[in-house]
Amino acid sequence: MKVEIDGRIKRIIARDKKVMITTTRESYPFVPAHGEGDFVYDVSGNKFIDFSSFISVYNLGIDGNKAIRSAVKKQLDALTHSAFTDYYGELPVRFAEKLVTMFPSGFGRVFFSNSGTEANEAAIKFARIFTKRQYMLAFYGGFHGRTLGSLSLTASRAVQREGFGPFGSAIHVPFAYCYRCPLKQEYPSCGIACVDYIKDYPLSKEVSGKEVAGIIIEPIQGEGGYIVPPKDFFKKIRKLADENGMLLIDDEVQAGYMRTGKFLALDNFGVKADIYTMAKALGGGLPIGATITRRSLGNIPAGSHANTFGGNLASIAAADASLRYVQRNMKNLHKGIMKKGRYLMKRLNEMKERYEIVGDVRGMGLMIGVELVKSKKGKEPAVKEREKILEECFYNGLILLPAGASTIRVIPPLTVSMASLEKGTDIFENAIKKIDGSRQYLRNVVEQ
Ligand SMILES: Cc1ncc(COP(=O)(O)O)c(C=O)c1O
Repeated sequence: MKVEIDGRIKRIIARDKKVMITTTRESYPFVPAHGEGDFVYDVSGNKFIDFSSFISVYNLGIDGNKAIRSAVKKQLDALTHSAFTDYYGELPVRFAEKLVTMFPSGFGRVFFSNSGTEANEAAIKFARIFTKRQYMLAFYGGFHGRTLGSLSLTASRAVQREGFGPFGSAIHVPFAYCYRCPLKQEYPSCGIACVDYIKDYPLSKEVSGKEVAGIIIEPIQGEGGYIVPPKDFFKKIRKLADENGMLLIDDEVQAGYMRTGKFLALDNFGVKADIYTMAKALGGGLPIGATITRRSLGNIPAGSHANTFGGNLASIAAADASLRYVQRNMKNLHKGIMKKGRYLMKRLNEMKERYEIVGDVRGMGLMIGVELVKSKKGKEPAVKEREKILEECFYNGLILLPAGASTIRVIPPLTVSMASLEKGTDIFENAIKKIDGSRQYLRNVVEQ
């Protein structure tokens, strides 16, 4: 699957650079046009295997599960915009009723929006109004979106915040990133010292726990580098929230929707939240965000929060068809995700044994991160090498995305076939081998 970049692709990119406001795209020239099964094709007919799910959106496949497409087409012919926060709607209500059944018993109420950041904006506002408190605790490495409220919680890369402050009332605390412990300790002998730190420092010296409305957290940090905390970390966080009357807000935007094998990634940690947020895969390719609150929290005052497009009928039709598929195929989906996840973990851990550049492999289900380092001992992030590996994969027909300083996320659609999974993993290993080899070669030359 050798990829050729022709004039058409080059022209689109040149035009993009003139007219578009810059975004995060900076490495390979990918201009997707359509998808079919496990494959995606660019505008010039190059064929790729997708290990990105288009940033965790196409969990049910790149060409959209057929049922999702036909549900949307049907809805397009009826009505798309229904001003759902002003008028009533049968489809959004039915979907919300279905959605809450996927959450712990006692949930809840749903607010629909259009994206992850908006779902988190709503969560911040709801936590404040429910608790009548102002502050929020958020984690270093966490990503919750880029609008000003959620950006104040995001602390994944300084460039995302640079020049946009001042920010609101977020206090950042260390996440359990055990491969690079921010407190330079070792798990489990640390006794989850990072949570003790929150009590001993920010909550003792900066702000009283009584003033903190909520703790927002990703079950597995996504943009921050695919960081999986130990199970007991979440138990301690839940306890901290309870001791202080804070609400636990679980941002499932990236890790949720079956990615880890369970509908909610937090369920892997034996803990429940008070408010959940979802987006990305929820709409099967159409924009939707949802904020789901525990019923006992009550409701917000009428008129205090709303939007124009939340509950958009085309998006809800997609989300509804997608969820119906998940509910009907839950057992098989789970089984497939775990089987494919085990296969990937085995292959990636073998690469860790074989190649100096692979520092850490971590994940759950089909949410896996491969952290690249210049050397296993020094753990210096292999930033340029990561770019080269991503490019090498691209030119050999495999789409992958970065996360954190030097991690590659391996997140194929949950429905990927074993054949494509194996083929994609082979392309990935060849790229790792090539860049690891050239890096070793360069080091030998320098050392001689
Ligand atoms: C965990 C998490 N929360 C929130 C967001 C923001 O979502 P959106 O880009 O839809 O605003 C993202 C996006 O990557 C995310 O990964």
